[in-house]
Amino acid sequence: MSAPDLKNDVFLRALSRAPVPYTPLWLMRQAGRYLPEYNATRARAGSFLRLAKNPDYACEVTLQPLARYDLDAAILFSDILTVPDAMGLGLDFVAGEGPRFAHPVRNEADVAKLAVPELDSLQYVFDAVSLIRRELGGKVPLIGFAGSPWTIACYMVEGKGSDDYRQIKTMLYARPDLLHRMLEINAETTARYLNAQIEAGAQAAMIFDSWGGVLADGLFQQFSLAYTQRVVDKLIREREGRRVPVIVFTKGGGIWLEQIAAIGCDAVGLDWTVDLGAARRRVQDRVALQGNLDPMALFGGEAAVRAEARRVLDAFGPVGQGGHVFNLGHGISQYTPPEAVAALVDEVHHYSAGLHA
Ligand code: CP3
Repeated sequence: MSAPDLKNDVFLRALSRAPVPYTPLWLMRQAGRYLPEYNATRARAGSFLRLAKNPDYACEVTLQPLARYDLDAAILFSDILTVPDAMGLGLDFVAGEGPRFAHPVRNEADVAKLAVPELDSLQYVFDAVSLIRRELGGKVPLIGFAGSPWTIACYMVEGKGSDDYRQIKTMLYARPDLLHRMLEINAETTARYLNAQIEAGAQAAMIFDSWGGVLADGLFQQFSLAYTQRVVDKLIREREGRRVPVIVFTKGGGIWLEQIAAIGCDAVGLDWTVDLGAARRRVQDRVALQGNLDPMALFGGEAAVRAEARRVLDAFGPVGQGGHVFNLGHGISQYTPPEAVAALVDEVHHYSAGLHA
């Protein structure tokens, strides 16, 4: 499909900081358990992984939030943990406990066994991307994504989610050489993985550095940002005659905003701890910003949802030379009332039109 077929390119234009009639929005984890239709498809598939690994199911759930809401972008339905799964770590999702790896990476021998996997083992992801592009028919752009090398490494070493990151930080402080080796492999794999998504039809790429914020200042730059930069450096930046923008989101990374903005990305995602107006001044509108409503604001009732949406839009202010993509500051909660999302989309689109005069 050629680029002129895109009917709504407001999201891509905002990322290039070009004039737009309103602030575009999409939501992290917009396809998910807060939607009854997602739960129905997931029940048919049997498990989250079977949903993610079957392109027909992945396509179906990707499109569900777009059928309900007037969102300005679709995001591939998949997971950041498909990458370590392809490396042979044995991913499973234990009900009520989240992701778990059968073979975590803990010592020198485990690291020595790691290698950049053949991309064939991730073909189901690229097939899903092509299928979604076809089914979207140019309605909105499709975002591809991956975890940052550091965030992926957290799961590879911990073997699951963590409260204190004790295992990976033990490796970081005791054997930084091992961690650097793993991060190199992750960076190379992630760049190839995102490029294959772009070649299959992804029109923007987002890197989720969900756990960058747990690192000490100085170590964040060495163990997270440097490897995210390696990925960004290798990405295809133009396809179908259009720029393929790259968004980098570091949860808890607001203090490093200027440094994140300087690695060559088009946009920085921010969580709700940051004021968007102050953030804009810090990066002098050199990159677009994405965010940053607290996902819990969606529990406050319609009036609060609308007021909080306006607060985020007003914080960014009149758009001028900047670019703003409205989003949550992290993934939507599974307990979110679907009607709160309808109010949010309506408020963002209507209220923001006055900021783009
Ligand atoms: O945004 C979207 O709609 C696209 C889909 C998407 C998923 N995961 C689907 C998913 C995206 C972009 C992700 C990214 C992801 N996965 C991240 C980075 C973003 C973030 O939230 O910080 C991380 C850290 C993961 C790892 C992961 N996947 C965890 C920790 C869990 C379990 C926690 C939970 O919410 O259940 C998952 C599972 C997962 N990935 C679900 C979905 C919809 C829920 C699984 C289910 O249906 O049972």
